[in-house]
Amino acid sequence: MDLDPTIIVLFGGAGDLVWRKLIPSLFDLNREGRMPEKFAILAVDRLPFRDEDLRKRFLGGVEQFARNKRVKKTDWNAFARHVTYHQGDFQDPATYSSLETAGARMEEVWKTKAGRIFHLATPPEMVRVIPKLLADAGRNRNRARDRIVVEKPLGHDLNSAREMTRTLRQSFDESQIFRIDHYLGKETVQNILAFRFANPLFEPIWNRRYVDYVTITVAEEVGIGHRGGYYEHAGALRDMMQNHLMQLLCLVAMEPMVSFDADEIRNKKVDVLHALCPIARSRIEQFAVRGQYDRGEVDGKKMRAYRREAGVSSHSSTETFAALKLFVDNWRWQGVPFYLRTGKCLSRRLSEVAIQFRAVPHQSFPGECSRDWSPSRLILSIQPEEGIVMGFQAKYPGYQMRLRPVEMRFDYQDAFAVPSPDAYETLLWDVMNDDATLFMRADQIEAAWQVLMPVLVAWAESAPRNFPNYAAGTWGPKAAEELLARDGHAWRSVA
Ligand code: BG6
Repeated sequence: MDLDPTIIVLFGGAGDLVWRKLIPSLFDLNREGRMPEKFAILAVDRLPFRDEDLRKRFLGGVEQFARNKRVKKTDWNAFARHVTYHQGDFQDPATYSSLETAGARMEEVWKTKAGRIFHLATPPEMVRVIPKLLADAGRNRNRARDRIVVEKPLGHDLNSAREMTRTLRQSFDESQIFRIDHYLGKETVQNILAFRFANPLFEPIWNRRYVDYVTITVAEEVGIGHRGGYYEHAGALRDMMQNHLMQLLCLVAMEPMVSFDADEIRNKKVDVLHALCPIARSRIEQFAVRGQYDRGEVDGKKMRAYRREAGVSSHSSTETFAALKLFVDNWRWQGVPFYLRTGKCLSRRLSEVAIQFRAVPHQSFPGECSRDWSPSRLILSIQPEEGIVMGFQAKYPGYQMRLRPVEMRFDYQDAFAVPSPDAYETLLWDVMNDDATLFMRADQIEAAWQVLMPVLVAWAESAPRNFPNYAAGTWGPKAAEELLARDGHAWRSVA
């Protein structure tokens, strides 16, 4: 499918996100022949750069972060000629008129009108500035062709998220706004919909009658690296739970969509958020756990305590681990707990959803047959393993009836033998295609904040007394195990 001529304007063009994610993904799209026949990339930032120096810097990013790190010179040249640098202050209206002039010049050369994609890879406060100045320059008028892309953080709490919505909508129509949650671009995350709704097998058992509980884990081995300044004001709840984990929960719990229309899917997802039982302020401790890493070892590598990281206060109360117990208050999920956990410096990198099915209603095998007996479990592995694993009981070979848990596995790489696009490739391609299915709508963001607000407020009001409370390289604080153990449940144990 040929895409319309497009000018991509990257605000924050000299920054990390553009270098590490956006340019490598655009490069890969171009290498795969997925960019429009006519396109230009304008990187805008305050620092002075010559086009040549910027391209050299971008090549460094591509060699580190593109899908195939061995970059052919011909591929690079074919891409680099589309990239130019535009020096300008984001707060200065003159920047926008000179961008307009540059865009108009391209349209003249191409002899056709081009759509604009304004991607804000900037500090969050620029959301208050750039959209307005773009609108003042008339760049919001063509609703079908001009789009704006915004990145996390999409608010700091419910009020600031609402304010962000208002600010964006003063300048752009909702249909022009693309808010990125990069988890939604991951193949394995998209596959949750395919798995659930393209197979009649699972949907009949996807409910309270068969599902005992669900765990969603997004565990990282890495610490906060050089992002101390940002992370101190965010924490795990804002950085990961409000967006990535909540979105996974929506995909697992949503009702079947009627069509693959962007708003239909987003409506079904937001219904889940609206159905979540509010956590009462008085009961936070029974539903939420926070943690902060102490020094330790991850995969043989020594890690310092969070409070010793650069840009972090030595008395910091910021959580680097969060776990929640949530209930989706509707017919399908009444009484089924959803446990969500995420953290930095954990034992290993692992993102997965585990659906734990109920035990058989009547145990017909004698006890000694099934010492290792456990109810069936379905694992949707998101990363680094990409696939689906069904755990069930089978007869162990021999003369006696003995049962053992076994696994049936689907592995992405084995099954398809084609590389998956990076999440950003998918998302950037979707923006060019004007397909908002995988993007966050304002009401989803606000609903997710609404659920978290009681926890955020309670945690802000009472400083944790036991931080740091887990050693780097473990699975987080003991209280996170207890959160499930109290209900007779457990996180899936992973070596
Ligand atoms: C980002 C968070 O949104 O997601 C980071 O800000 C986190 O703190 C990252 O490390 C994890 O993404 P991924 O794709 O590596 O799982």
